[in-house]
Amino acid sequence: METKRTRWYKDAVFYQIYPRSFCDSNGDGIGDIQGIISKLDYLQDLGINAVWLSPIYASPNDDNGYDISDYRQIMPEFGTLDDFKEMVAEMKKRDIKLVMDLVVNHTSDEHFWFQESKKSLDNPYRDYYIWKKGKGKKGKKAPNNWTSRFTGSAWEYDETTDEFYLHLYSKKQPDLNWENPKVRQEVIDICEYWFNLGVDGFRCDVISCISKNQDFPDGKFNFVLRGDEHFTLGPRIHEFLNELFEKSWGLHDSMIVAEAIGCGHKDAPDLIGESRRELDTMITFELMEVDMLMNFLPVKFNLKKFKKVQRAWQELPADCWPTLYYENHDQPRSVSRYGNGGIYKKQLAQMLAVSYMMLRGTPYVYQGQEIGMSNIKLKDEEYQDIASIKVFEMVKKYFRPIMPIARKVLAKRARDNARTPMQWTSGPNAGFTTGTPWMKINPNFADRNVADQQKNPNSELNFYKKLIAFRKGNEVIRDGSFVEYFPNSKKIYCFERALEHKKYLVICNFKEESINVNVDLLGFKGAKLVMSNYAKQDEILGDAIRLGVYEAVIYEMDNTVEEQ
Ligand code: NOJ
Repeated sequence: METKRTRWYKDAVFYQIYPRSFCDSNGDGIGDIQGIISKLDYLQDLGINAVWLSPIYASPNDDNGYDISDYRQIMPEFGTLDDFKEMVAEMKKRDIKLVMDLVVNHTSDEHFWFQESKKSLDNPYRDYYIWKKGKGKKGKKAPNNWTSRFTGSAWEYDETTDEFYLHLYSKKQPDLNWENPKVRQEVIDICEYWFNLGVDGFRCDVISCISKNQDFPDGKFNFVLRGDEHFTLGPRIHEFLNELFEKSWGLHDSMIVAEAIGCGHKDAPDLIGESRRELDTMITFELMEVDMLMNFLPVKFNLKKFKKVQRAWQELPADCWPTLYYENHDQPRSVSRYGNGGIYKKQLAQMLAVSYMMLRGTPYVYQGQEIGMSNIKLKDEEYQDIASIKVFEMVKKYFRPIMPIARKVLAKRARDNARTPMQWTSGPNAGFTTGTPWMKINPNFADRNVADQQKNPNSELNFYKKLIAFRKGNEVIRDGSFVEYFPNSKKIYCFERALEHKKYLVICNFKEESINVNVDLLGFKGAKLVMSNYAKQDEILGDAIRLGVYEAVIYEMDNTVEEQ
């Protein structure tokens, strides 16, 4: 019998844990599952009710766990299966749902399937991966011009069988061949295995790229990435997703969120529309692209464009549910990206929180975001992420004179920025580990850490807590309509959320300057202030409002008539 899908995620606030950098319980310098368990009370207190846990499966860590060598085992650095079971039980006690990363566009090259696959042309696992003959007289040229997202060709030559295999990421992450029904059955079995252990859903890594154009044509010219148009939302994507939904995901009260790289709001209805029976929601990159050129180069932040993207997602058909996020383990820190903290860092972090948490959709808080963790300055040799290392390698090899530019770009864009260890205290190693941390800790932990912020009622952390509590169970925020005001303003983000007799007016000042906003025509005269990141209280809205630097306000108008 099919389980009823309650769509619990519509009432959830997620917290993303990047386990390597969250909390180390055994002093080896690497975060682990017992470390997570020790912080569940903290998460519960913050008010979140679901966790997205980045991969904890066995992995040689070429891409920090996004290269899986055994889908049913836990990476020894993180603990054991018993630790995992304990974590699930402890989460359940606290009503925290668990969504695991499902990385099945590719495996590690150390996975048994690949080890077998590369042995011979007739190995039973050969077709688990995408093998092709090379081009050129000697067959040593890559089968096409597709590039890996970590620079260079997406094809790696393998001598044993004189063929190339495809890898959209590192050469240690060979792509699975989803055309093979056995592969799809393996994925279904993996999902069922973890559902049986108590997980509530999956965040599906690069899932938009699992179906490749089987002609494998050259991609159109692009300086950075080539081939995208032949594997993003490929010919059989909807069929593959629907099969997974019918045979696994849809049989549970689950939440399936896609990492929909390369997809925009126009693709959403076909992927996440409820009647499609494919996915529940998707992580879009459209917002991340607003201040980026060619998927990587930083460009000036433009609030108008940013708001336009948010609007498009807010205006999706009613049966499509958006994902709301500013940060994750692949993106720089939002306070370093969308503003210039300075002495107003706290207000900036808090304003940003309001600017996305009041929207329709499921919000995610990435570890450390709630205390306003920021980007880090690293020396070349301190970068740890394979993507950064590959950029350095390429620039050194082919474009050495632009090294200073590459350094500047990486300082802004590198994924390392988000991966510095969590700042728990002002004590040694920010309270993250008693050993040597696997990655440099941001030196600002002395005045930016959980322990200090817990004591300060006006801290970023306590503001997040208040905001999450405000959202919880609030039907206007969950189901209300969205109307945007001043869409052309490059200074403020102003919108209304309304349901029946109740409505909110949200105004966020994205500028490092005070500003007057005329609100007389918005129909909120007499509304009362319910949240502000400034020391304002009990204010009633008149015709205009003056907002301080990075100030965010929420006004409420409640015309509900009490029943006698
Ligand atoms: C997306 C993940 O978020 C990222 O960290 C990883 O490198 C790639 N997918 C490849 O798995």
